Amino acid sequence: MSREASAIYMDMGGYPPDVWIKAIRAVDPHRSILHGPLTADQARSIGYAVVWKPSPGVLKTLPNLACTFSLGAGVDGILADQDYPRTVPLCRMADPTLTQAMSEYVVLHVLAHHRRKATMDEQQRRKVWRIVAAPRASSIRVGMMGLGVLGLDASRVLSAIGYTLHGWSRTPKTVAGMECHSGAEGLATFLQSTDILVCLLPLTSQTKGILNAQTFALLPARACVINCARGGHLIEADLIAALDSGHLSGATLDVFAQEPLDPASPLWSHPKVTLTPHCAAISDPNALAQHIAVNIARIEAGGQAHPLVDFAQGY
Ligand code: NDP
Ligand code: OXD
Repeated sequence: MSREASAIYMDMGGYPPDVWIKAIRAVDPHRSILHGPLTADQARSIGYAVVWKPSPGVLKTLPNLACTFSLGAGVDGILADQDYPRTVPLCRMADPTLTQAMSEYVVLHVLAHHRRKATMDEQQRRKVWRIVAAPRASSIRVGMMGLGVLGLDASRVLSAIGYTLHGWSRTPKTVAGMECHSGAEGLATFLQSTDILVCLLPLTSQTKGILNAQTFALLPARACVINCARGGHLIEADLIAALDSGHLSGATLDVFAQEPLDPASPLWSHPKVTLTPHCAAISDPNALAQHIAVNIARIEAGGQAHPLVDFAQGY
């Protein structure tokens, strides 16, 4: 990287960049921040990119790009750009505020399924006084798909509540208080041991469409599904069929193949679906700015940003 190439380029995929620019300026007031179309000189001045679903092909036109920072933990929206220059390290967002927010979301919805909140809400609407019994937490098996930064923290909190934890990852793991499964060979046993399935996988060519009819069939009858990872993990028609047949008893969805969700989608009004608008864990601008500043300092001291994406794995 040439020494002059220290500016930040931002492409927030249609979201106004102002709030992010303000946060970065607060921690790094002298750095130039650019967005929108760039002249050739401006493109040469860029050392870092901060992006979320960037316009395809733009990042490869930045000759001195030293590192790209994802606005979020997921990088599928960046790697969807076939022209992403894979020689440029890609740093994803990992931060305690994001992790805490996701754990809150997961716990909220696991508890809602376990304690049958939808039934209680419905009874209140109908002025019905009927006890809604719930089994002990320890008798409920929560299956965590993805044992990374987010999946592990959510599992830790669920375990403290008393749930029985099973986890599934690509590579084998040992986690205290959890029965761990891994790889394609471990998937069926994992699913058969899961009453509430939580998806916190990255979206890659390996995980696309993994929440499908075959997966649901392996879950015990009356299981629930919580997808707070990516809409591309889920085959929506398969979920609706499994809910309608009574095999699955409920689903919570935060993410969708098409966002915003089409008003015509049957998911909006499905009685067994709780739906949230991709807000399980939103990156905090100040936390992101701090994460970027710390990592730029590392890079400028000759080190590497962290955590970096493994391009071969896609996450
Ligand atoms: P990490 O990269 O830390 O963890 C990913 C986990 O998934 C790892 O345990 C990994 O296994 C596992 N995994 C990856 N591929 C496979 C596979 N083929 N089979 C089995 N397991 C696999 O990611 P994070 O925990 O930080 O984030 C997870 C995802 O959550 C993000 O990619 C994003 O899509 C989503 N997210 C959603 C948000 C929302 O608001 N809805 C907010 C933030 C994130 P291994 O440990 O072996 O590598
Ligand atoms: C993320 C997200 O990946 O917000 O961080 O979805």
